[in-house]
Amino acid sequence: MARIFCIANQKGGVGKTTTTVNLAAGLARVGQRVLVVDLDPQGNATMGSGIDKRALQLSIYDVLLESASIVEARQRNAKVGYDVLGANRELAGAEVELVSLDRRDKRLKQALAAVESEYDFVLIDCPPSLSLLTLNGLCSAHGVIVPMQCEYFALEGLSDLVNTIKQVHANLNADLQIIGLLRVMFDPRVTLQQQVSDQLKTHFGDKVFASVIPRNVRLAEAPSYGLPGVVFDPASKGAQAFIEFATEMVARVQTLKPAHAEPTF
Ligand SMILES: Nc1ncnc2c1ncn2[C@@H]1O[C@H](COP(=O)(O)OP(=O)(O)OP(=O)(O)O)[C@@H](O)[C@H]1O
Ligand SMILES: [Mg+2]
Repeated sequence: MARIFCIANQKGGVGKTTTTVNLAAGLARVGQRVLVVDLDPQGNATMGSGIDKRALQLSIYDVLLESASIVEARQRNAKVGYDVLGANRELAGAEVELVSLDRRDKRLKQALAAVESEYDFVLIDCPPSLSLLTLNGLCSAHGVIVPMQCEYFALEGLSDLVNTIKQVHANLNADLQIIGLLRVMFDPRVTLQQQVSDQLKTHFGDKVFASVIPRNVRLAEAPSYGLPGVVFDPASKGAQAFIEFATEMVARVQTLKPAHAEPTF
């Protein structure tokens, strides 16, 4: 059965999509079967995986409104090695349409149940908000991976996210836990980043992933070629860090305890 993870942080531009597509590509490289779910109307994970969001016949929008299944809507660009359930601007409308429907926060969970056995990992790229779309992601997932930049305001935003995750855990999805915090766009020469990184380790202990993703221009260039950095330039420092992170994740899921046995923070 697939392990389902949300890549979430309500802050914009912190590296969620970069983490999603590169972790997916890294996992595919080590033989894992992966589905990326793009839950963001921006459609960046879709484009960054080599699928043209403007040409989607079916997308996650249709899946959430139950007019298509994931089997019908998923796509694959052979170069990237994983499946994609794509999104585009249409998804912004789903947010409004879902409000009046029943089971509105469980639509994605239900749709994923039909394909779970085909994958080892499902990675859900969340939008930069704590919206009904993100809630669908959190209700579907076993855990949350939080990419964050090591800067002062990052810590402040983290408490909102942690509170939301606690609420979802208590009320909607008892399986949900924080898998870990991933330090991204890291520059060790910046003293503040080192300090925040140390604070994170003090507060969150082994919930901070050992892998660290450096700031690396190849990761930023790759989306314009419709590829994750791990595929675009596997030898680059950024790609190497994500491949290491993929290996860390494979090991981490093997030792994952059920959510109720994990300390919350
Ligand atoms: N490690 C990195 N090194 C250099 N550039 C990076 C790195 N990670 C992300 N970027 C760049 O930073 C920008 C924001 O990254 P990304 O789109 O992954 O963030 P996001 O959290 O998904 O944003 P949004 O909240 O809009 O969905 C992008 O231009 C991306 O290419
Ligand atoms: Mg994004």
